[in-house]
Amino acid sequence: MKISKCVFPVAGLGTRFLPVTKELAKEMLPLVNRPIISYGVEEALASGCEEIIMITGRAKRSLEDYFDRSFELEELLKSRGKLELCEKIVKISNMAEILFIRQREPLGLGHAVLCAEPVCKSEYFAVALPDDVFINRESPVLSQLVKVHEKMGGTVIALEEVAPENVSRYGIVKSQFEIEPGLHKIIDMIEKPRPEEAPSNLAIMGRYVLSPTIFEILKEQKAGTGGEIQLTDAIRTLCTREPVWGVVYNGRRFDCGTQKGWLAANVRLAMDDPELKEMILNIVRS
Ligand code: G1P
Repeated sequence: MKISKCVFPVAGLGTRFLPVTKELAKEMLPLVNRPIISYGVEEALASGCEEIIMITGRAKRSLEDYFDRSFELEELLKSRGKLELCEKIVKISNMAEILFIRQREPLGLGHAVLCAEPVCKSEYFAVALPDDVFINRESPVLSQLVKVHEKMGGTVIALEEVAPENVSRYGIVKSQFEIEPGLHKIIDMIEKPRPEEAPSNLAIMGRYVLSPTIFEILKEQKAGTGGEIQLTDAIRTLCTREPVWGVVYNGRRFDCGTQKGWLAANVRLAMDDPELKEMILNIVRS
């Protein structure tokens, strides 16, 4: 079944990145020359999604403005003969069909996903957490999940092996068996476990293909870790009803919700540009 919709929960306050996120939406921080959110949207489009649904909150208007037309800017660039740049700006607003839905209360990731129900209704859909920026140009990480869904059906989540001391930062899964290298049948999961309660070191990373059954579960879901309605808790229940697959993705992930991850992603992406690469190497050498 085709996955045509991708949901981006973007209502988070970015407390891990204060003070810059006091007034600036964390998804708008730049990665070289584009905001973080753009990388996730580009990945979703390259994975076959056609509709983007952003679950926003207060102080996130800049995201709507970024993907909208900017007539004054376009006219100014045209009048100055900067036609190529103008074309680039117009392209952003034509990039995708984007719908914005407000999450009125910050009740957690599970609640944010539930806000997409009126649009996704009864079809399988993708979820992308914009803080997690993945680099794999040949095969975008979300497309790797979509392929598994097309082959096996059911829900699919992205997995990465993490060091035991880091399990408490992620949702951690329990695999029943590995059907082929890197493809696990998931039977249980726990959000941010203590190292001694973790069922494995396979961590959920921010890409999902979800069954619409998740909405029914989320409506009943009680608050979990951190007092929030956790998506992990809902997928845990889903495991008992429908197949849930975990795929150890191919690619490199940067957690751009933290200063270290964001800086590393900037350096890594800038190294692809010969001019910037030379500049970075010179800075490091000196
Ligand atoms: C969320 C999910 C968690 C997942 C993580 C990946 O946590 O709840 O299961 O492992 O994203 O980045 P957050 O980082 O929003 O606390």
